[in-house]
Amino acid sequence: MNFIRKPEWAMPEREATPEAVFFDRRNFLMGAAGAVAVGALGGIASAGIAGAAEAPKDKTLDLYPAKRNPDFKLDRPLTEEQVAATYNNFYEFGGTKGIYWLSKRLQLRPWEVKVSGLVNKPKTYDIDSLIRSMPLQERLLRFRCVEAWAMAVPWTGFLIRDLIKAVEPKSSAKYIVFKTFYKPKVALGQLRVWYSWPYTEALTIEEGMNEMAMLATGVYGKPLPQQHGAPLRLILPWKYGFKNGKSIVSIEFTEKRPKTFWERAAPSEYGFWANINPAFDHPRWSQKSERMLGTNKRRPTQLFNGYGKWVAGMYPDLKDRKYFF
Ligand code: MTE
Repeated sequence: MNFIRKPEWAMPEREATPEAVFFDRRNFLMGAAGAVAVGALGGIASAGIAGAAEAPKDKTLDLYPAKRNPDFKLDRPLTEEQVAATYNNFYEFGGTKGIYWLSKRLQLRPWEVKVSGLVNKPKTYDIDSLIRSMPLQERLLRFRCVEAWAMAVPWTGFLIRDLIKAVEPKSSAKYIVFKTFYKPKVALGQLRVWYSWPYTEALTIEEGMNEMAMLATGVYGKPLPQQHGAPLRLILPWKYGFKNGKSIVSIEFTEKRPKTFWERAAPSEYGFWANINPAFDHPRWSQKSERMLGTNKRRPTQLFNGYGKWVAGMYPDLKDRKYFF
């Protein structure tokens, strides 16, 4: 399944293959058919898949906006909400940036997150109970995609370390593996069989315990919308965007490092660590600068996206390319 060497999101327009164009068109048509069906059966606004009965309500609305953590200040204006919400990477719904309307097919409740593997207290959480049991905070953070676009966003969420403490990892646990849902009838991009679904990302336990490592539940003072990875997604602002897995249903503690989604799809271009560093270019483009969504203003890329104070100590050799790929 590893024959895709260039994910479309990492490709300049001029390099996009006819295959990508064909499948995006097919996704569009299938998505359009789905949208018509949803419309006929009760309204796109219900955010459910066609035919679904009235979906249970989000029981966390009263938690937003959460208290802002003043330690995280931005050096640039916030990206406009509408801009961030209409330029997304969410391959489950297609390979273009404009998938927000297709992502509305994903029903967000009921939603369970299974925490399993090498822990003393494995547990399957109902998403509302999980969110209510964690201290939420808002942080204004820079976000940098490996493709060199960037944004500045107010994320709401909790520290992964609070969840780690709750489930008590065993001493043999070394990695935390995060998986997205697998629902190819809803997320038509998952019909592309050459990708290894579900989307999988992972961290070391040390990274998960870091002050910067968050699980986001909201953005712009409200619960996450589907396209940003509702109801639960990773926010690791010192790493390239692809590490920030969306719509998580499984968190597993393992001894062995797993192969992550883009590592499988394009192993020569996307590694496990993926820490941001302007000194190490992507094999096909420079990482020296980034383009802000909305304004298109270019800014120099910062080592660890400017969060080195918190995270640099986890990577012993800052000259070793393996940490930045
Ligand atoms: N998570 C899943 N499940 N599927 C994806 O395709 N794309 C990743 C990441 N998380 C992706 C994902 C990439 S490449 C980026 S840059 C960010 O999501 C984009 O997050 P945003 O759309 O909220 O800006």
